[in-house]
Amino acid sequence: MSQAPEVKTIGIVGTGDVGIALARGFLRDGHKVVMGTRKPDGKEKEFLEKLTKTAFEDEKQGLSKHTEGFSLTTQEKAAHQGDVVILAVNWAAVEHVCKELKDHLKGKIVVDVNNPLHFEGGKFLGLLPLKDSKGNNRSGGEVVQEALPQSKGLLFLFYFCFVRL
Ligand SMILES: NC(=O)c1ccc[n+]([C@@H]2O[C@H](COP(=O)([O-])OP(=O)(O)OC[C@H]3O[C@@H](n4cnc5c(N)ncnc54)[C@H](OP(=O)(O)O)[C@@H]3O)[C@@H](O)[C@H]2O)c1
Repeated sequence: MSQAPEVKTIGIVGTGDVGIALARGFLRDGHKVVMGTRKPDGKEKEFLEKLTKTAFEDEKQGLSKHTEGFSLTTQEKAAHQGDVVILAVNWAAVEHVCKELKDHLKGKIVVDVNNPLHFEGGKFLGLLPLKDSKGNNRSGGEVVQEALPQSKGLLFLFYFCFVRL
């Protein structure tokens, strides 16, 4: 019987609350995590501390065993090095980021956690209405799928597991 390939490295493009929570969960469970940000220089320790600080008591031990598996780099390198890549960037940047990274993401599973959240003046107004060129409604998942046609997509509903990952 053939076995599923082992996932060695999780690339996480995005360093907001979502990227941090996911990085923490994958690290705790022993995966190697390469996180991508636009200006990574000298910030690895700061991010690792942020990850550890936000951990629950019962996951701190698991996390402390695996911190050497964490690295912070550019978004391009995180996309390139990840066997599976999580895309967790601000919605306003999603299409641009997909365009920049699409060659690195060819053939890979991309976990899309992004939502087209509509904020104005710091106030949450719901989801942005997204339309295609013919005026038909489309979802955020469709936008990402169209922007990464050669990747394998996974849509990830994150709300209920946010704090425990
Ligand atoms: N699926 C769910 O259940 C769920 C729940 C909550 C949020 N979300 C979605 O998850 C995504 C991440 O949310 P978040 O709150 O963690 O983060 P966020 O604050 O919305 O976004 C932060 C990330 O976006 C990147 N970014 C912003 N502008 C950029 C640009 N012009 N070019 C490249 N990268 C840019 C930042 O890069 P730097 O690291 O370089 O600063 C940072 O990593 C959002 O789309 C949000 O709507 C989903």
